[in-house]
Amino acid sequence: MTALLVEETSRRRTFAIIAHPDAGKTTLTEKLLLYGGAIQLAGAVKARKERKSATSDWMAMEKERGISITSAALQFEYKNFVLNLLDTPGHEDFSEDTYRTLIAADTAVMVLDAAKGVEPQTRKLFKVCKDRGIPIITFVNKMDRPTKELFSLLDEIEEVLGIIAVPRVWPIGTGPDFRGVYDRKEKQVHLFEKTPGGAYMAPVQVNGIHDVALENRIDLEILQKSREEIELIEDGIHPFSEEDFLNGMITPVFFGSAVNNFGIQLFLDNFLQLAPSPYHIPLKDGSFMNPVASPFSCFVFKVQANMNKVHRDRIAFVRICSGKFERGITVNHDRLDKPIKLSSSFAFFGQDRNTIDEAYPGDIIGLVNPGTYRIGDILYSSPIPPKLKPLPVFPPELFATISCPDSLNLKSFKKGIEQLAEEGILRLYSSRIIGAGNPIIGAMGSLQFEVFQRRLKDEYNVITNLYNLPYSVCRWVKKISVPQLPSSANQITDTEGKVAVLFEGDWEFNYFKKNNPDIELTESPEYV
Ligand code: G4P
Repeated sequence: MTALLVEETSRRRTFAIIAHPDAGKTTLTEKLLLYGGAIQLAGAVKARKERKSATSDWMAMEKERGISITSAALQFEYKNFVLNLLDTPGHEDFSEDTYRTLIAADTAVMVLDAAKGVEPQTRKLFKVCKDRGIPIITFVNKMDRPTKELFSLLDEIEEVLGIIAVPRVWPIGTGPDFRGVYDRKEKQVHLFEKTPGGAYMAPVQVNGIHDVALENRIDLEILQKSREEIELIEDGIHPFSEEDFLNGMITPVFFGSAVNNFGIQLFLDNFLQLAPSPYHIPLKDGSFMNPVASPFSCFVFKVQANMNKVHRDRIAFVRICSGKFERGITVNHDRLDKPIKLSSSFAFFGQDRNTIDEAYPGDIIGLVNPGTYRIGDILYSSPIPPKLKPLPVFPPELFATISCPDSLNLKSFKKGIEQLAEEGILRLYSSRIIGAGNPIIGAMGSLQFEVFQRRLKDEYNVITNLYNLPYSVCRWVKKISVPQLPSSANQITDTEGKVAVLFEGDWEFNYFKKNNPDIELTESPEYV
């Protein structure tokens, strides 16, 4: 363990933002990047449409639709910390890939729209973080707009998500009456004034929320209401404890307005103190990996083909778990059981790539992937592989067959579906009934199918036909010999050669299970 490794590791914060679409994730990302000096201030005043395609979006379709489908990691420095922001797509209808990106994070920032509270997509993403033991910090956005009643918003977080919401700041007024936030810890008031581009205003040091000096600055009625609310909070709210936060029992809550750049710096400064450095990689035995006491290791959490039309190569994104990465090092590849030299390593910022010579735990780097890496692969330089907890599998719920009507294009079709399935944007199966030429694809949302077809066309020049299949439940089978299936079910084989059965719905699945109690069916191929 070197002093440099310890220092570099402890100044890293690797996190993801989870939000329902439109809650303000893109806007918050941009503002955070501004503090890191990563993008020009001009970003804040760009035309709305243009701004919709944040720096991390690179695909034409994302830009057209103003959504982020694939995810990337952005690195920026702020106050001597190195922040690695994993960009998770926020569209309602996205893929397993999104969930997997969260696995590479040590902390999640949950952005809620103050008027809407906990929305469905937030709930799903939250669950992944909770299952993985990733601590969550909440940012309640759009305080300049009419909001829900704030105490019921806190209750909603507790009831819907099962986590205790502990406000670290409290808003003074909401919507048109929004005047700022009170920092409970520092006893400072940050006054909200709309400034062009959301310029930063220094906080006002006060002697608690009852300080009379505030009465010259804030309408008495608004101030009085906040004073009462803050009293209630000071008396009744669950106290903040770092342990409870790291164990996922509580979430510290901040309030602000991303578009007005209000409350962001306060949030960011607190975030740096709250968010853990990269210690959080879970091991199979339930403990966590010590990033500085172990030799180099990393795992592949994302594979991306054709990120850039100029390069046309595939990139495997790895999250460094332990030790120092140095370009050119030779590591062991667990699945292939052979040594590999890591000579092409990059950091990405949207379309741009820079060669990375060294990196530390928590960092995300891209490795050129000539088919060597798959999601879940572990690379390590210790004599035996680290026993990392396997990545979770999220079973698809929508299925279709895909075919290529142009027989001259079959080679590109095959290459395209294989490479894109390798990215994990959807799952690929074959079925004896449907025939080898028409693979079955499985996804969690129909947008994935649309993205898949669009990318086959754009990147592989292949036009495809897609036929939706009537299944919604997929279960892997422990025994290879599957008994006679009902005509409504379909036996399939995944790309690893593992057998699964597709059922039309829960009723059909449960009926089959009842009649075949000795057949073990699992949601994930991991255990097969
Ligand atoms: P997303 O990535 O989570 O999908 O959300 P995004 O940042 O794109 O924000 C969604 C909309 O909410 C954007 O409006 C954005 O300007 C607005 N917004 C973000 N933060 C705040 C805030 O603090 N206050 C208010 N009032 N609005 C905020 P838009 O798409 O540009 O236009 P429109 O939806 O206003 O028409």
